[in-house]
Amino acid sequence: MTPEPTARVAMIGAGQLARMTHQAAVDLDIELRVLAGSRCDSAASAGAPYHLGSPGNLADIEAVSKGADVVTFDHELVPFTHLERLAEAGYRLRPEPRALLMAQDKLEARRFLLAAGFPVPAFTAIDSAADAIGFAGQHGWPVVVKARNGGYDGRGVHVIDKPDQLTGLFDSSSGRGPDTAWLAEQFVDIAAELSILIARTDAGNTALYPAVQTTQHAGICKHLVMPAPLPSHVIEQAGRTARSIAHSIGATGMLAVEMFLTTHGDLLVNELALRPHNSGHATIEACATSQFHQHLRAILDWPLGCTDLLSAAAMVNLIGTGSELDITGGLRRALEVPGVAVHLYGKTPRPGRKLGHVTALGDTTADALERARLAAGQMGLG
Ligand SMILES: Nc1ncnc2c1ncn2[C@@H]1O[C@H](COP(=O)(O)OP(=O)(O)O)[C@@H](O)[C@H]1O
Ligand SMILES: [Mg+2]
Repeated sequence: MTPEPTARVAMIGAGQLARMTHQAAVDLDIELRVLAGSRCDSAASAGAPYHLGSPGNLADIEAVSKGADVVTFDHELVPFTHLERLAEAGYRLRPEPRALLMAQDKLEARRFLLAAGFPVPAFTAIDSAADAIGFAGQHGWPVVVKARNGGYDGRGVHVIDKPDQLTGLFDSSSGRGPDTAWLAEQFVDIAAELSILIARTDAGNTALYPAVQTTQHAGICKHLVMPAPLPSHVIEQAGRTARSIAHSIGATGMLAVEMFLTTHGDLLVNELALRPHNSGHATIEACATSQFHQHLRAILDWPLGCTDLLSAAAMVNLIGTGSELDITGGLRRALEVPGVAVHLYGKTPRPGRKLGHVTALGDTTADALERARLAAGQMGLG
């Protein structure tokens, strides 16, 4: 007789977050079944049980969710109406649909956060270049035009310096299709970008991780350091804000709160993700409990793990460049760098695609970052 797993979890999506959640699920003897678009998806190729289907198809989501104690997400691409249908049908979705909406729809999130008294950049819904120009008339250039839904790694985020750069953005030639909805946002003079990771259970227990400072190029996270080397009053305020947001939106599982520290010293909330997040990858080596273990514990309403920092750390994303990679030779050289852990996602290289990451532990974040970069460079990536 096959022994029963400790729990059954379904995850919608089978990318690298599902792959690393699968690794954590193995530790806890949780059966994690993923909804994969292809058997080559990162989690499916790593051995997670999978159902082939699309996150846009209700029947596929139901098929993977059947028999699961909890249904959770590796991305936000499930239509909201499907989420509501599933919840009504008795599936236990964690996070719940209303909370997940805060990660699906940047405009809804901005509106909710503003109404709840959290600081956000000035924003408005727009439909046309004229709307964006009107917004810039009030708030100045540049203006940031963002797709409400479906954006990630800077796709769907446009920093517009002058009106003629808006040409084509609002018609189908932009490649985003005529149904894309947009918001305009004030361009923030950013001194630092922070990510605050926090886990929350249904019962309202929370576990806050040490703050992370991220560095983006062209909207995609290049690297991060943990703990964020910023003044303690900034870190404390960011942590209080994230905890308060977790409770206000009723988050369950991991929540990442992306924030901007402005050059004037103000903290603004940028984006919310209700799942394990790229900015939390260093928790695997640097914290007592990784974000992937913690997400599973939180959605199952199990006791949360200790989030203490074991070491200063840095992480560099391995981002496809388009040139041929020597993964095997590069891997050998990267593994020679002391204190480095390499994570490869088993994905076909494409320019701009996250193919893996490297984490280094060190005495200081600067030292860790230097070695993580060295290792990423050895792989021809990063
Ligand atoms: N209002 C803004 N002002 C200045 N930079 C911004 C603004 N909004 C986004 N950015 C930059 O673009 C990056 C990606 O934007 P974000 O809204 O987080 O979209 P994504 O879903 O692609 O992560 C941010 O991390 C930040 O570097
Ligand atoms: Mg973001």
